[in-house]
Amino acid sequence: MNISKITEGVYYVGVNDRTTDRFEGLWSLPNGVSYNSYIVRGNTKTALIDTVEVGAVHNYFRAIFAEIGESEIDYLVVNHMEPDHSGGIPMILSHFPNLKIVGNKHTIAMIKGFYHINDDSRFMEVKDGDVLDLGGKSLKVVLTPMVHWPETMMTYLEESGVIFSGDAFGCFGALNGGVVDTEMNTDWYWDEMYRYYSNIVGKYGRFVQKALEKTSGLTLKYICPTHGPIWHENIAKVVDIYDRLSKYESEPGVTIIFGSMYGNTGEIAESIARQLAARGVKNIKIHNAAKADLSYMISDAFRYEGLIVGGPTYSMHLFPPVENFMIAMETREIKNKVFATFGSFTWASAAAKTLGEYLNKMKMEPVATLEMKHSASESTYTAVEQLAESVVNALKLK
Ligand SMILES: Cc1cc2nc3c(=O)[nH]c(=O)nc-3n(C[C@H](O)[C@H](O)[C@H](O)COP(=O)(O)O)c2cc1C
Ligand SMILES: [Fe+2]
Ligand SMILES: [Fe+2]
Repeated sequence: MNISKITEGVYYVGVNDRTTDRFEGLWSLPNGVSYNSYIVRGNTKTALIDTVEVGAVHNYFRAIFAEIGESEIDYLVVNHMEPDHSGGIPMILSHFPNLKIVGNKHTIAMIKGFYHINDDSRFMEVKDGDVLDLGGKSLKVVLTPMVHWPETMMTYLEESGVIFSGDAFGCFGALNGGVVDTEMNTDWYWDEMYRYYSNIVGKYGRFVQKALEKTSGLTLKYICPTHGPIWHENIAKVVDIYDRLSKYESEPGVTIIFGSMYGNTGEIAESIARQLAARGVKNIKIHNAAKADLSYMISDAFRYEGLIVGGPTYSMHLFPPVENFMIAMETREIKNKVFATFGSFTWASAAAKTLGEYLNKMKMEPVATLEMKHSASESTYTAVEQLAESVVNALKLK
């Protein structure tokens, strides 16, 4: 029984990483992550699609040799150059001296820069729409720039309806035995997909939309991403999640992000939440920005329609963990939110102004703002009620 076979001629040779704490040095990985790589065998040629992170190369080679034995690999197709997929390139090149790297001009420039491989005879440059003939298996190049880097592309195995999609349609979470979605309970991967999309791909929504347009005409039987499960029976659901997230579409609910040193600003966050709940909002997520994991805050911010952010003034600045969150929102060009802000100060206000400046830069108008001096008083609680009322009135998804 060949347990790595996905469909005729396509084999999984990826590896799990349950050791790394933070993906890209930033994003927590409580459930690990997989680096997916694939072998495609035609009648005459064999191609490897992408490699893995350098620390995972040992197990990667074990998976490759279990699949190919003594036979050769003719091509390495590099869909994405981020080091979580390109780390294995130098060792693959030295193990297979006749192998050619297949990539577009940006890919090839990056390989030369990252890995100092300057022998042009090792490269085969491809353009959008080019087809790599493996003998009865044709790999068509679909350029999808900025999903997630400029060189990013997908490759489509025409005869089998298999798309090797790079980071698109990927998610956090290592694979726990099952590789194709038909072999597993996929329930817990959906949250990991939201988190992966919002953390990693979130900035590039309009490029994801372009890529979706480009792939919409293709028959898709299997989506083989670089991270997480291979999608077969959930293709429609996965494409829908990526489509909605890349259009910044939300679900009903409100995320409240706050910072607080001594609890006064925290009290506003709690009161807002209570007032929202009293007005029928059921999905409310509150994160203390100084303690919560930025990765989960970003994920909830993308997911829910309402976003309320507040923090105290700290040495003439917005409290740094809250500012850090706002930078993450600005970076990801977050849109289509019902936004409200609250700030506090004691002698010279800065928090509320800075929050306003971020919203300006993001071309978003808050539906309500609130500012508190010292601690909550009756007028603060009245303002909280008004803020909650304005937010609830503006929510379209109820
Ligand atoms: C280290 C520190 C720096 C602060 N810097 C300022 C400031 O520059 N301007 C100001 O008006 N208040 C400043 N404050 C006061 C807080 O912004 C204000 O007391 C706020 O209400 C505290 O809210 P909290 O209880 O949620 O921490 C500072 C407080 C601390 C502890
Ligand atoms: Fe990437
Ligand atoms: Fe990746």
